[in-house]
Amino acid sequence: MLAIKGGKPVRTKPWPAWPVYDERETKALEETLKSRFWGGGVGESGPKEKEFEEKFSMFHGCSHGVCVSSGTEALHLALLSIGIGAGDEVIVPALTFWATGSAVLMAGGNPVIVDVDKESYCMSFEEVEKSITSRTKAIISVYNYGNSPDMDKLFEIAEKHGLALIEDCARAHGFMWRNKPAGSIGDIGCFSFQQGKFMTAGEGGIIITNNRLYAERCRALRTCGRIRGDDVYSVGVEYWWNWWNFRMTQFQAAILLVQLERLEEQTKTRQANSEYLSMRLSEIEGITTLKIDERLTRHQPWPYLFKYDSKCFENIPVERFVEALKAEGIPCSTIDHPPLSMTLTARGSRSRIIRKPKYPVAESAIREAVTLPQSIFLGTKEDMDDVVEAIVKIKTHLGEL
Ligand SMILES: Cc1ncc(COP(=O)(O)O)c(C=O)c1O
Repeated sequence: MLAIKGGKPVRTKPWPAWPVYDERETKALEETLKSRFWGGGVGESGPKEKEFEEKFSMFHGCSHGVCVSSGTEALHLALLSIGIGAGDEVIVPALTFWATGSAVLMAGGNPVIVDVDKESYCMSFEEVEKSITSRTKAIISVYNYGNSPDMDKLFEIAEKHGLALIEDCARAHGFMWRNKPAGSIGDIGCFSFQQGKFMTAGEGGIIITNNRLYAERCRALRTCGRIRGDDVYSVGVEYWWNWWNFRMTQFQAAILLVQLERLEEQTKTRQANSEYLSMRLSEIEGITTLKIDERLTRHQPWPYLFKYDSKCFENIPVERFVEALKAEGIPCSTIDHPPLSMTLTARGSRSRIIRKPKYPVAESAIREAVTLPQSIFLGTKEDMDDVVEAIVKIKTHLGEL
């Protein structure tokens, strides 16, 4: 009997706990406490922050890193640093967390929402190309569902039309496209360290770039407009005066330094488990896994996504299937965020959001996508087998639903 009807769930064992920490975080926090340097650096980065900015940006192929308070702020400041302002159009994908679009509004620009590709569920480069106008200034690409848009094409389009390419890597720590780290392919990469992300300090974000001017502008923007006195680029950022404070604390940076040490190993584990799960799920009629682009040489799922075809499940709607799967002890959900065309709203600035009449692929995702959280992929192959077993169990007891 299905667990949702009172039967025994397939899975009762706990899943890997998230976030992961050990005595190294405890030690780093204690050291920071005793150092009495707790706050973010005001003019310069604080000591832990500086160390983290150097290590994280180097790991991701960039020479500059600027810690900020969140992934949303990373995007916001990145957009300001490239000069986005009133009337500028920035192309964003329909499937993403709404910060990708709201950051454009915050910077004063107009987000142009385009549909995603049906194979990858990431930004469709064909839709990007069709949406370019004389007002387009930038593209924000997003790595979603452990997958990537076609970064070769997006780079080519950006070059051809003289647009900035910002990579929203909030869900892509440690990813590589043709062995080049995510965040270093376009002009600027933006990461989040919010609680659920692959690396976390509870909250936080970082901007990485190989462009020194953009980095200096972001540094000034995050700390009430202060400019590093001795920097030759200061002159160029003088007019960026503003009153915002988006600094990160040394405690966050101290934790993130330890989290970075685990990233490579955890990525390998998640990638191997997600590939194994995809292989096993392909045995089930009515379940289709996402096609991960082969050029994405290192990846991990955030979240993992598979497509559910209700026709092969006696027309049981995806929401009911998800309830049944949860009852079997598998943490899962329907699509984590409905298309941006539906979720992005802003009082007073609605007219600045540029929507297409329809988003056939993103809209179909609501009816067919099931997602699993990243943390379960830190487990074992046997854990993945439990996911498969639970789906097969539901499929063989559909009459009970
Ligand atoms: C794709 C994407 N972009 C941006 C963000 C914003 O990051 P934060 O929550 O740190 O502001 C998130 C995080 O939820 C995200 O998933």
